Amino acid sequence: MKTTLHAAPPSQVETECLVVPVLDAAENNNGDKSDKHKPQIQSDDKAVLDAAADLIASGEVAGKMLEIALLHKPSGLKAKRLMLIGGGKAKNFSSYELRKLAGAAVRNLKAKDLKGFAFVAPSSWTGQADPASKSTLVFQRGGMEDAVKSIVEGAFVGNFDPDYYKSDRKEQKIDELVIVAPAAADQKALQAAMEQGRIIGEAQNFTRDLVNEPGNRMTPTILAERAKNMCDETGLKCEIYGGDKIKELKMGAFWSVAQGSDEEPRLIVMRHEPAGAPEKPVLGLVGKGITFDSGGISIKPSDGMEKMKYDMAGGAAMIGAMRAIAQLKPNLRVIGVVCASENMPSGKAQKPGDVQIAMSGKSIEIINTDAEGRLVLADGLHYARQLGCTHLIDAATLTGACVVALGMVNAGIFANDEDFYDRFSKSLQKSGEKMWRLPVDEEYREMIKSNIADIVNSGGRWGGAVTAAMFLKEFVGDTPWLHLDIAGVAWMEENKPWIAKGPSGIAVRSLVEFVRDLAASPLSKN
Ligand code: BES
Ligand code: MN
Ligand code: ZN
Repeated sequence: MKTTLHAAPPSQVETECLVVPVLDAAENNNGDKSDKHKPQIQSDDKAVLDAAADLIASGEVAGKMLEIALLHKPSGLKAKRLMLIGGGKAKNFSSYELRKLAGAAVRNLKAKDLKGFAFVAPSSWTGQADPASKSTLVFQRGGMEDAVKSIVEGAFVGNFDPDYYKSDRKEQKIDELVIVAPAAADQKALQAAMEQGRIIGEAQNFTRDLVNEPGNRMTPTILAERAKNMCDETGLKCEIYGGDKIKELKMGAFWSVAQGSDEEPRLIVMRHEPAGAPEKPVLGLVGKGITFDSGGISIKPSDGMEKMKYDMAGGAAMIGAMRAIAQLKPNLRVIGVVCASENMPSGKAQKPGDVQIAMSGKSIEIINTDAEGRLVLADGLHYARQLGCTHLIDAATLTGACVVALGMVNAGIFANDEDFYDRFSKSLQKSGEKMWRLPVDEEYREMIKSNIADIVNSGGRWGGAVTAAMFLKEFVGDTPWLHLDIAGVAWMEENKPWIAKGPSGIAVRSLVEFVRDLAASPLSKN
């Protein structure tokens, strides 16, 4: 999708469709039975306001979130169509909603077989929430650059459909997006914001592409090849290791998962090491890359097992994030480590009761071979520390328990360092990705004690997301660390107006924002 910036008045833009957000500026209609709305068209262009006047007067447009009204041949406009798209309450409107509007516009218009449109950046985008308003904006409303970047990100995400294997696939795509922004704004800054939005949106779709592939077409070998090709294209250093090297490194936990499969495992290392970057910090991005999780000998029920092709979503998120990092070139050292393997039952597979020695030297009693993600990550995290990472973030579709706790809305986030967590949560506000913090208190450690080894790999039924995180914590030592459990949000079961069902590409945007933020202003302690 080609994206261009247009500084002319919206009425002068020649396009198949001019899309203008409408917000509900009603002060307080909560609980008001008359349900009064105050739709406010997000453009100062008189011709646009005139063209939409009848629609607004009809009362059919209230500015409700994702409400769409379409007008053909709008008088006084050069556009062939005018689309009004609702963004909800003006006081709550943030980049989170704006992304959705752009995505929904893309999906609505491409279904009509349109190939291009123009999106008007909201005129009331003030740069911050109304200080008089009691509402708390969870997500950011930055300057006009933030608006442009969010529109582009949302549009790219909306343009993606995971329907490659359908022979009657419709080639419906938006090829050209024009963003109409105020002429008074700094056009160079907006241009840069547009470019950033494109890079980040494309990276998210790159991840979704990897996650979408079924297990037979996304083996550890193929995942590593895709990562290698990406690194070659973007100039990242990349090392790929197989089973022999994994054994040689004494990655006993990682290998214990891989040993049962005929598909060879892969350890993927991607490095962004800009020449001028400070020695420290070195951020390690460690991803779970289980290309198919059958459960192993503790085999999963067949109902829903097909979903376990997305068990490499954490690894794919790290590969996607590295792609954007390579293109945005933040002045910070980042190392991506993905542990890719299948988890299969076979005569060579590990068994419940087996004891494995992790790379760190810790011994692990295997209670459940289906708790494999934490095993591959244990060695991935330890290895990342050995490579010199001073800060660690891992992402993994780690536990069903996290889905029970948080559903399919928030990912779980765990942290052993307050400063590190605080900084990351700022990135969440920018990226519009939802993650909710869960605890890693020492008191939970009881639950992963073993009778015959240092720890068990399954803490049992209660607090399953927490005990999985506690297990990982054993391998990070005193390194500041964040763990993202994305099991519930990496795959979307339903189509949404702004995004297709299937792989979501969660975590890519937040990781990229975080890396940019760290490069711009260092952490208080390295
Ligand atoms: N990959 C699964 C977790 C998962 C569940 C991801 C649902 C996406 C959706 C993980 O490897 C797993 O099987 N976890 C077990 C752990 C248990 C055996 C301690 C689980 O959550 O049931
Ligand atoms: Mn499993
Ligand atoms: Zn798994």
